[in-house]
Amino acid sequence: MTDRYAVIGHPIAHSKSPLIHAAFARQCGQDIVYEAILAPLDGFRAAVAAFRAAGGKGLNVTLPFKPEALKLADKPTERARLAGAANTLRFDQDGVFADNTDGVGLVRDLMRLGQDLPGRRVLILGAGGAARGVILPLLEAQPACVAIANRTASKAQALAREFSPFGALIAGGFDDFAGGAFDLVINATSASLGGEGLALPAGLFAPGALAYDMAYGKGETPFLAAARRLGAARLADGLGMLVEQAAESFFLWRGVRPQTAPVLAMLRK
Ligand code: ATR
Repeated sequence: MTDRYAVIGHPIAHSKSPLIHAAFARQCGQDIVYEAILAPLDGFRAAVAAFRAAGGKGLNVTLPFKPEALKLADKPTERARLAGAANTLRFDQDGVFADNTDGVGLVRDLMRLGQDLPGRRVLILGAGGAARGVILPLLEAQPACVAIANRTASKAQALAREFSPFGALIAGGFDDFAGGAFDLVINATSASLGGEGLALPAGLFAPGALAYDMAYGKGETPFLAAARRLGAARLADGLGMLVEQAAESFFLWRGVRPQTAPVLAMLRK
């Protein structure tokens, strides 16, 4: 029997996950099928139950269902609990295992890009679900500091308080970090998705800094275009993170780690 997996979201038509997981399966000789499921906004639980009843082994979960997916878990990992969201479900004999591989996906992609983190100054833009999902793995990499800047400063401050047991965090509005000279600035706002730019203050980027957009799209995102103008030395979009988080999910399901570089190269074509 071929094992069934899928990505579930709303919308879902543009998801690259089926392509990525099919490539991983070919590469690793794993006999699986991987589909895309569009769940109604008020029908996530029912869609998951139906997939499971039909013998489905695991799901990737995308917007807007990640927080709801965590609630389905019998066994959530700590990183999923702290992220407040799950992007990976595995249906085990003894219940639903849930994890969040987004944060580790980001950190692995930063390694691929040669961005070291220990002792570095890191700024996260945004304080929503996407930001929350990457704070813990970033802190675990031992940077000198992690700062969170958000349009609504109070949300950044609340997030920093919540994660303060795990490392040094500072928070504020965008302008509070003018002249901050960060080695790495990560866009975790949803502004790129709407094609909007961000009102970035001057002096955010240290010499040699990397600007990383968790979003990706055709061409340069508005954040990366702004970062280039403001002097960021290196630019990267979130396609690598997408492939890395998928590889971690694949590992959780199949116990084998696919090579990500060839799959990223295929997507870039
Ligand atoms: P996600 O799950 O993608 O993080 P979210 O939880 O709705 O989505 O959070 C969206 C984030 O993007 C927030 O930090 C939001 O800032 P506010 O808290 O001030 O709303 C940020 N954001 C969205 N559009 C933005 C824009 N045009 N400029 C600045 N920040 C923006």
